[in-house]
Amino acid sequence: MIKSVYIHIPFCDTICSYCDFCKFIKNSDWIEKYLIILEQEINSKYEGEIINTIYIGGGTPSCLNIEELNELFNIIKIFNKSKTLEFTFECNIENITEDKLKLLYENGVNRLSIGIQTFNNNYLKFLNRNHNKEDIIEKINLAKEIGFENINIDLIYALPNQTLEELSNDIDEFLKLDITHISTYSLIIEPNTKVFIESYKNIDEDLDYEMYKLICNKLKDNGYNHYEISNFSKSGYESKHNLTYWNNNEYYGFGLGASGYIDNIRYDNTRSFNKYLNGEYIKKSHELDIKETIENEFILGLRKINGINKEDFKSKYNKDIKSIEVVNKLLKEDKLLENEKNIYINPDYIYVSNDILIEFI
Ligand SMILES: C[S@@+](CC[C@H](N)C(=O)[O-])C[C@H]1O[C@@H](n2cnc3c(N)ncnc32)[C@H](O)[C@@H]1O
Ligand code: SF4
Repeated sequence: MIKSVYIHIPFCDTICSYCDFCKFIKNSDWIEKYLIILEQEINSKYEGEIINTIYIGGGTPSCLNIEELNELFNIIKIFNKSKTLEFTFECNIENITEDKLKLLYENGVNRLSIGIQTFNNNYLKFLNRNHNKEDIIEKINLAKEIGFENINIDLIYALPNQTLEELSNDIDEFLKLDITHISTYSLIIEPNTKVFIESYKNIDEDLDYEMYKLICNKLKDNGYNHYEISNFSKSGYESKHNLTYWNNNEYYGFGLGASGYIDNIRYDNTRSFNKYLNGEYIKKSHELDIKETIENEFILGLRKINGINKEDFKSKYNKDIKSIEVVNKLLKEDKLLENEKNIYINPDYIYVSNDILIEFI
């Protein structure tokens, strides 16, 4: 069966004030050791299937130097790649150089996902990001010149004190870049982050809702397709890799803290660097029963704005989607809607979709 691959690179140049991901300040000695073990993990788990999407995420994969990147691409040669491979590489503005971008391009990377967060220089400082608005424009133009046609940026909104006008400016700056994809995330103040320790609070919920609406409307008016709660793309540029997750399909997760879903088993790799280096890759794994698989089908599938295809559901589970009690309840409450092909969340409830998804657990 065709599968997807996620590879985690847990190194960053600096640590952002809001970030709770699995990452460390980079250190060349650790990177060297990490890549050796990563290769061993991949060789021990990969069974030669055709790979349709590869996503190298982090951390900051682009903080690796040219030699380390070459090593990583050597490791990846093992995969039996589909002719239509989508190959995404996560980058930060401050450490992508012309040489690195060329190397990625030559090695088959055909999608960049760049952490921008905001174009506002004051908020960039607050988030402890090491770039400014001018750098963003320069690096994205450079990537385009090298040949990258499919570029995503990540944007964070609902920053403390942020106004609707400031957010609107961020969206305008994104639109000027004329790129294919944007992921937008409302700031989560995670424990153990600098913003949490310094007691920053989330913005007012009504303003958060206004911001979400502004993003959806402005992107839609400018030809972007809202295809998942937080994701928007030009037609045909939806992230194939992330659709693997939302379609509840299987994927390998390699590297520190990565998660995977293989042969009906969901697993989470350890976040302990020492354990990982000792080859104790997996922290926990769990074989799903049919009830849990169907639960995931809804929790993940209804994140897509078009929801779940009724025929696909039937052929996957050999039962009618409307034979599921919760589906009927939510249809009666108008929280779910249906058309000829799909069942999907009523657009009026997308903002509170978590409250709906939780009903499936
Ligand atoms: C895997 S992370 C980091 C990738 C990359 N190192 C970077 O910083 O751009 C992917 C995205 O999640 C978002 N993110 C991370 N922490 C967040 C938080 N606390 N609240 C909201 N969004 C967050 C950011 O937009 C980030 O770019
Ligand atoms: S947001 Fe990205 S760059 Fe910043 S610390 Fe987290 S993983 Fe590293």
